[in-house]
Order: sequence, then structure tokens, then C-alpha cells
Amino acid sequence: MSVISYNPVFLSGDDQPVILITGATGFLGGAVAAQLIAAGRGATLRFLVRAQNPANGLQRLAENLRGHDVPAKDIEALNDSQIICGDLLDTSWLTAATPQLMLIDRVINCAAVASFSKNPTIWPVNVEGTFRLAEVMSRSTRLTRFVHVGTAMSCGPQRASPVRESWEFPAAQDQLVDYTASKAEIERRLRQELPQLPLVVARPSIVVGHTSLGCKPSASIFWVFRMGFALESFTCGMDEHIDVIPADYCAEALVNLALKPELAYDLYHISAGVQGACTYGEIDHAYALASDSQPVGERYQRVDPDNLKDLAVRFKERVGAANPRLVLRALRLYSGFADLNYLFDNSRLLEEGMSAPPRFTDYLDACVDSSKDVSIASQMQCDFK
Ligand SMILES: NC(=O)c1ccc[n+]([C@@H]2O[C@H](COP(=O)([O-])OP(=O)(O)OC[C@H]3O[C@@H](n4cnc5c(N)ncnc54)[C@H](OP(=O)(O)O)[C@@H]3O)[C@@H](O)[C@H]2O)c1
Repeated sequence: MSVISYNPVFLSGDDQPVILITGATGFLGGAVAAQLIAAGRGATLRFLVRAQNPANGLQRLAENLRGHDVPAKDIEALNDSQIICGDLLDTSWLTAATPQLMLIDRVINCAAVASFSKNPTIWPVNVEGTFRLAEVMSRSTRLTRFVHVGTAMSCGPQRASPVRESWEFPAAQDQLVDYTASKAEIERRLRQELPQLPLVVARPSIVVGHTSLGCKPSASIFWVFRMGFALESFTCGMDEHIDVIPADYCAEALVNLALKPELAYDLYHISAGVQGACTYGEIDHAYALASDSQPVGERYQRVDPDNLKDLAVRFKERVGAANPRLVLRALRLYSGFADLNYLFDNSRLLEEGMSAPPRFTDYLDACVDSSKDVSIASQMQCDFK
């Protein structure tokens, strides 16, 4: 199993600001919470959680933290008073929660509907509800940083790779999916309409697995690789690079962006970049090594995105029991992003002192190992909730 060290920085220091984490019941927010708890900051954390009451919110949070291997004693040390119950779909709770929110020093805003599907809550949550939370926080005299988690893919199609950070976005109708359109729109609104918000936007590229826990916290997107190798076919070329980072590296970067006293920029990619990205061929080799099989190599057939349906005959035999229409839809959605063939420049983050990310092939064995007894179809459910 891989053990990777990438030199966490900035976590030292005497000041212990109160940090609100949203989305801590999810993949990235859970990884952020796990890191801050491991750094001894558990008592300083507050969590915005969808729940009927704080006890239920704490229970939901604890369940997720167990998936991130947070020690039981650290989970037990958390208490109900650290939970703020709230749903970004209906923000009527914000008025009552405002006094609690005014005691927050930093926000790491990971909550979002992170789905490529057509989900009617994407815009109301990712744009409207998120804006209302930020608007309340912008009135705080105490808040010194609001780290908003965007997505590097909101840059839209037809950018030159490696893509550099930019506040320019394509029109919503030119985005690949509603999700990326919503993430672009909220960044635009936060920046333009809330000038008093101490905003820093962090845009992760593609987050897959965890360097030591593999897919235990979440199998999000890992199943796409599994499916590609099982079908011996996908839309990208073996020599194309894919910008993948692990959740713990991403969390480390988010924590650092929240805690570092001064930052040179207000917008950062968290990505593998040119140095850290692997080719699909390298991933094929590492996957084969980890799963004690042969690389797909020369058997690999690159398929045109319009012809993905031709692979359907292999679904049952290679992917296992799964709804073939859902598999095809998933392949189409994810191939749209793979075919952009983007690397995201990460020099800004490295300039801040963050170490380079581990390569996907360095920890892929942990992802394979933690997926041994889980079908591709059930891992796929992660991204189609
Ligand atoms: N994973 C990636 O590859 C990736 C890449 C780039 C950017 N990002 C960004 O990273 C952030 C976190 O993504 P993730 O992968 O961690 O997603 P995730 O696992 O689906 O977690 C989403 C989190 O948001 C919360 N949430 C959803 N709807 C909400 C609502 N109406 N009110 C309050 N909270 C709500 C969820 O709470 P419940 O548990 O209650 O549903 C959950 O805690 C998102 O902003 C996403 O755009 C992710």
C-alpha cells in the first residue's frame, strides 16, 4: 500500500481561528475536516450540516469522518454545539444562525451539488443558496477568509492547455453541464456582488481517491478508470495526460489557503499540473500492477464519443450487473470532460509553498485495494446520487 508524504505546510502557528466547514458530510469537506482534526484543531471547527437537529447532524458528520479514518476518540470529542443545521436549498435558517456565523474567522465552503446529471437543485443550491450564505458572511467584522471551492472545469471548453487561472468564463450555454455553469456563475456573483467578502477561490481539477485510504472515503470518478480498463476502450488516447489529485492533497491545499496569513492571489488551481499529471497509458500500467493483471496496452481501442453506444454489447460481461442506459450516460458525461484533455497550471499554489502533488500512479494501488470487493456499478452510484 502506498504511503506518500507531500510535506504539509502552514499548519503550524499559534492562532486557532474558528473555521466553518460546509459540505463536511461529503468527500472533500470530510477530508478537510479530517486534516484539521488531525492537526489538533477539532474544537475550533464548526460544521454546516443538513440535518433535523444538531445531534442528527453530528451523527451524519461522524459517519463520514469514520470513512476518512478519523480516530474514534477525536470523533467523540466533537459535540452538538459545533453543528449548524442548514440546507442551502432553503436558507430560511440563516436568520436564526447569523449570531453563530458572526463568530466564524474562516470559511472553507465545500458544500455543493457536485453532479454532472440534470439535477433541478444544482442552480438553487450552488448559486442562490451559496450566495445567500456568503452574503451573510460578508457582513461579518470577524471573518478574514472565505475559501470557496470551485471547479477547474468551469473554465469551459476550447481553452489552451495547460489552463491558467482566469476569472473569465464562457456563457452558461457553452458549458458542458449545468454543474460547471453553476460553479462559474457563483464565482462571478461572489466576486462582483460581494466586494467586502474576503474571498479566495480554489478550483480543484479531478479528485480521485486518497493517498492511503484509496477509495474508502469515496469512489467518485475512480469507477470511470475501472470501466475504461474493463471495456478496454474509452474516448481518450493512451498518451493523453489526465489531471488527477488525491482528496488529502486537495484538502491540505484548502486548509493552507484558509490559514496562510497572506496570499499572493485570490484564485488558485489545486491540480496535478504539467509535472504531476499521468498519461492514460501510465495509469493502465499502474492499475495492472496493482490488480495483478496485464495492462490493456495494445488491446486498447480508442472510441469516438459518438460511438460509445457500440461498447454496450460488452457492458454485461465486463462491467457486471448495471443498468446499461446509466452506464452509457455516465460514459458520455465523463468522456466529455476527458476529451477536453486539459491540464491545469498549478504554479500559483506551488508559489505559496505548497508541495507538488503525488501522481495518481503513486497511490493508485490504494484505490485498487480498497475497491477489491466493490462492483464498478456500485462505485458509479457515488456520482449519480
Ligand atoms: N470531487 C471532485 O472531483 C471535485 C473536483 C472539483 C471541484 N469539486 C468541488 O468540491 C466541492 C465538494 O465536492 P465533493 O466531491 O466533496 O462532493 P460531495 O461528496 O457530493 O459532497 C457535497 C457536500 O455538499 C453538501 N450539500 C449538498 N447539497 C447541499 C445543500 N442543499 N445544503 C447544504 N449542503 C449541501 C453535501 O451534504 P449532504 O451530505 O447533506 O448531501 C455534502 O456534504 C464541490 O464544491 C465541488 O464542486 C469537487
